[in-house]
Amino acid sequence: MKGRIVTAKNSGFCFGVKRAIDIAENTVNSAGKNSGRKRSTKRLIYSLGPLIHNPQEVKRLEKKGIKVVENPSVLKNATLILRTHGIPQGLKEKLRFQNLTLVDATCPFVKKAQDIVQKLALGNEKIIIVGERKHPEVKALVSYGGDRCFVVEKDSDLRDIDFSGSVAIVSQTTQSPENFSRFVKIIKELNPKAKTFDTICRATFDRQTSARKLSKRADAMVIVGGKNSGNTKRLAQICSEFTKTYYVETAKELKSAWFKGKKIVGISAGASTPGWIVREVKKKLEGFLKEPPR
Ligand code: F3S
Repeated sequence: MKGRIVTAKNSGFCFGVKRAIDIAENTVNSAGKNSGRKRSTKRLIYSLGPLIHNPQEVKRLEKKGIKVVENPSVLKNATLILRTHGIPQGLKEKLRFQNLTLVDATCPFVKKAQDIVQKLALGNEKIIIVGERKHPEVKALVSYGGDRCFVVEKDSDLRDIDFSGSVAIVSQTTQSPENFSRFVKIIKELNPKAKTFDTICRATFDRQTSARKLSKRADAMVIVGGKNSGNTKRLAQICSEFTKTYYVETAKELKSAWFKGKKIVGISAGASTPGWIVREVKKKLEGFLKEPPR
């Protein structure tokens, strides 16, 4: 059995996730340096929810000393790392009152969208946010614009909005450009003066485009990432439209029989999949294919 591994051009950690992991590791390292304090005064480090949607990486960080907490109101004398999605403004204030040290790992692209919403709200604009209502990023965005914000997830959401006056359209960072443009077009028909702020981050889109392209010429695709990661799941869905696709969290799940007689095996990974897991998967695949990866 001979074959080769080809990695998708855009794959794995996005800028914001990589930055969040670096921030978390720096936080732990500098806490280690200050561990000369008395045990009773040592601050524990938490992340508000899992830092990323990857169980193995969350476990690795846990071993380094970052515990996941879902309900931060119970914390005292602790350091709390905030995730890439950002958190509602009110919650941030509340946590500060609790005397927690906040380490903000909100992705700069998300922060930019928050700043735009806040500015628009101060200008008394009606803000249409194209995104998933229940997503933490959208909940946080809404907190910056308060009752000036209207979230649009599906066409029927448009029915309840009065589009007269000053209207601005903003996007959740991970929306697809097609979906955003479609809503912009509909809204502009209702209010031609509506202003558009394209706050989409291309990381998700780029990973999807590269994986789609590769899956069209690969005999099989391996998508690596947490089963709880929405963007990884989506990569697997896209690739399975074009070729046999295996969605794995770790190298342990790979089976040699899957790759028997395959000439090109493509690999891609979600924006929350760490490089060390992808490397383990590649190594095992190399063994199956008996040829070094490109
Ligand atoms: Fe940020 Fe884009 Fe990643 S918004 S967290 S760089 S997907």
